[in-house]
Amino acid sequence: LMPSSPSSASLSPSPVILTQDELKKIAAYKAVEYVESGMVLGLGTGSTAKHAVNRIGELLRQGKLHNIVGIPTSKKTHEQAVSLGIPLSDLDTHPVVDLAIDGADEVDPFLNLVKGRGGSLLREKMVESSCRKFVVIVDESKLVKHLGGSGLAMPVEIVPFCWKFTAHRLQTLFADSGCVAKLRTSGEESEPFVTDNGNYIVELYFKKDIGDLKAASDEILRLAGVVEHGMFLDLATTVIVAGELGVRVKNK
Ligand code: 5RP
Repeated sequence: LMPSSPSSASLSPSPVILTQDELKKIAAYKAVEYVESGMVLGLGTGSTAKHAVNRIGELLRQGKLHNIVGIPTSKKTHEQAVSLGIPLSDLDTHPVVDLAIDGADEVDPFLNLVKGRGGSLLREKMVESSCRKFVVIVDESKLVKHLGGSGLAMPVEIVPFCWKFTAHRLQTLFADSGCVAKLRTSGEESEPFVTDNGNYIVELYFKKDIGDLKAASDEILRLAGVVEHGMFLDLATTVIVAGELGVRVKNK
């Protein structure tokens, strides 16, 4: 990778500052080293996963990988994979995925994740909970002490029917953690953001630690109207973290 800024003309070497996107690319390329010919691959979604999908396409084109079957986790990744000539399939045909590679929004010390700020959490969870190995690729800004602790949203995919009612129930569920639930919108008119599955996303913001993650997950999933949430508990087998000091590989 090239440094993001030109090196200075002075004799002492200047530190190379990598951009966040360059760090994402480093993590993605490292993850693709786990890919072997003949594998069924879960193809993640987002700006980090995009680099991994590009790299897989490149290795196929160069004849360095063969007989790969990709299972995309979103319409966007599907389009990208098609444009790269990656052969595609789905979970109906390939219910067991050898390896999935995807980004994350938050990673805690136990390799639990928040995903879905790109809006693709349902398909991601379907694919990534069906794989033998799930490699997560992040730059170090995604590391948190506890999920929901970055001050950013925890997404929950819900059906559009009476979404205000469901959003209110979600907010009430976590009232003790100071939860605020907001509908994700998009575009200038602030229309509801619609997922690939025709659903809406409610974003949960927490003022305090949400505590027992498994209990929180169960409670969210028990609410009628909820389709899936963005906590990926105990699913990642490896997390590759790219930072200014290099790449770290954390295994479960
Ligand atoms: C999409 C996701 C993404 O993997 C997550 O949002 C990370 O995105 P990025 O790699 O662009 O930072 O879960 O639903």
